[in-house]
Amino acid sequence: MGKKIEKIGVMTSGGDAPGMNAAIRAVVRSCSYYRIECVGIYRGYQGLIEGDFVRLGPRSVSNIISKGGTLLKSARSKEFRTKEGREKAYKNLKNEKIDALVLIGGDGTFTGGMVFNSEYDFPCIGIPGTIDNDIFGTNFTIGYDTALNTVVGVIDKIRDTASSHNRLFFVEVMGRDAGFIALNAGVGAGAEEILIPEEDMGLERLLECLKRTKRSGKSSSIVVVAEGDKIGKNVFELANYVEENLPEYEVRVSVLGHMQRGGAPSCFDRVLATRLGVKAVELLLDGKTNVMVGLINNSVETTELEKAVKGHHEISGDLLRVSDMMAI
Ligand code: F6P
Repeated sequence: MGKKIEKIGVMTSGGDAPGMNAAIRAVVRSCSYYRIECVGIYRGYQGLIEGDFVRLGPRSVSNIISKGGTLLKSARSKEFRTKEGREKAYKNLKNEKIDALVLIGGDGTFTGGMVFNSEYDFPCIGIPGTIDNDIFGTNFTIGYDTALNTVVGVIDKIRDTASSHNRLFFVEVMGRDAGFIALNAGVGAGAEEILIPEEDMGLERLLECLKRTKRSGKSSSIVVVAEGDKIGKNVFELANYVEENLPEYEVRVSVLGHMQRGGAPSCFDRVLATRLGVKAVELLLDGKTNVMVGLINNSVETTELEKAVKGHHEISGDLLRVSDMMAI
């Protein structure tokens, strides 16, 4: 039986995601509900190393459920990858009498937690917060639903102008290693083609598809491209290549960038964040550690951090098929 948990530290780390604030609020208020203390750690692992802490009570998180970004700020810390960095972090936690950590973030965040736990036997629970939805052990990560809605809203607007000018648009969306945003927002916005890291469509097939699209009488076309698509060209090179090979198309490019990470979280993300935040605290109080909380078939479940990091969250093959059918 580990030490009784009386004070929990919470942090957000890696790329921010809408709904992180809702998760922080849920952790803080659950701590209060169970009459234990809560400390916020600024700027993820970097703040842990620097002892950048703040006491949080239920009123410190008033009115943040509706806000994008993260009250606690976020960072990617190189120093925490070193033994010396982690030692400083451990000393700060001891000085502050923090007994356990809730880590809100993605792969990198959980890897840091696992290493820290193995070196110092320090209780850590992960909450998946990233717009990429690329975490094994949850159907949805916090922020993904909001990002999808942002992307669909923007593509709808691009469609208006694409259609007025009979143009072909390449729209780049986030996702270095995962095509969840591209595939789902692409289907949701009725994109003609979707290029994702998980599948190499090949340039020839892309040209063929676009020729077919033109022949079928469509006046405008949208190709959604994930940042990390497999075709091997960036979105501008891709657009040039298509314009050179298919002069019948007038091509434009739109890179959505970091706007996808901002904005008020959707109701789905707020509820998800709240459920996961409460569960994270309850697990720590039950003596659990080294797991991530996630939503599987609408039930809050746990997955070993190691599995969450090493496992692969597969995109839906059926959605790819459906998307091809709709491009007719
Ligand atoms: O992991 C979240 C994410 O938004 C990715 O989709 C994107 O590739 C990356 O972060 C961008 O990172 P940065 O904010 O450091 O440019």
